[in-house]
Amino acid sequence: MLVLVLCGSPRKGGNTDILADEFLKGAGEAGARTEKIYLDDFRIRPIGPVGDVPAKRRDVRSDDDFLKVFKRFLAADVVCFATPVYWQGVTAQTKCFMDRLSAYKWRAAYRGKVAAKGYAVITAFGAAGQGRWVTGPLKAGVKWARGTYLGDLSVTAYKKGAVKKDAAALARAYALGAKAVRKMKARV
Ligand SMILES: Cc1cc2nc3c(=O)[nH]c(=O)nc-3n(C[C@H](O)[C@H](O)[C@H](O)COP(=O)(O)O)c2cc1C
Repeated sequence: MLVLVLCGSPRKGGNTDILADEFLKGAGEAGARTEKIYLDDFRIRPIGPVGDVPAKRRDVRSDDDFLKVFKRFLAADVVCFATPVYWQGVTAQTKCFMDRLSAYKWRAAYRGKVAAKGYAVITAFGAAGQGRWVTGPLKAGVKWARGTYLGDLSVTAYKKGAVKKDAAALARAYALGAKAVRKMKARV
């Protein structure tokens, strides 16, 4: 089983990244192979104009790095979107990936693969109670794609690395990773 984190924070070693590592540690110790991709390392442009029939959409910008990341996305059994809250939403890096995914996910070749995965969400943010801006849209997206939602983690942390001092949050990230693997194993 492959567990992939798509890290949408441009801040390597930041709060989302630290929580993502704990998540992967939990997944790894539960028996999964793990991988992390920083979306900011890839050039993924915003989606271009697409047609109204989802299954027939063409990705007119497929000459950038999107397909490299999409390939890893397809290979994963569990995908964890890890993104801080930026302006009451996911980061632009995450949003570009999500939007571009919608040029592919309804095609007959991919629809079943997208639906077969388990998904988790991790988010960090500066002001208490802001996690819903990330968990709400991503959970809705997973439901829309008929994927399995494995859970989420919202943590208040503002300064870079502040979450390192939050033992409870780190433990919850680890537990979410382990739970994600257990739940997916139980399905097969
Ligand atoms: C451009 C930008 C927008 C932000 N918008 C919000 C926001 O709307 N709500 C909030 O609580 N924190 C906001 N923050 C704070 C970050 O969510 C917070 O610092 C978080 O820990 C960053 O995660 P990271 O260390 O993984 O990059 C924003 C930070 C930046 C740089």
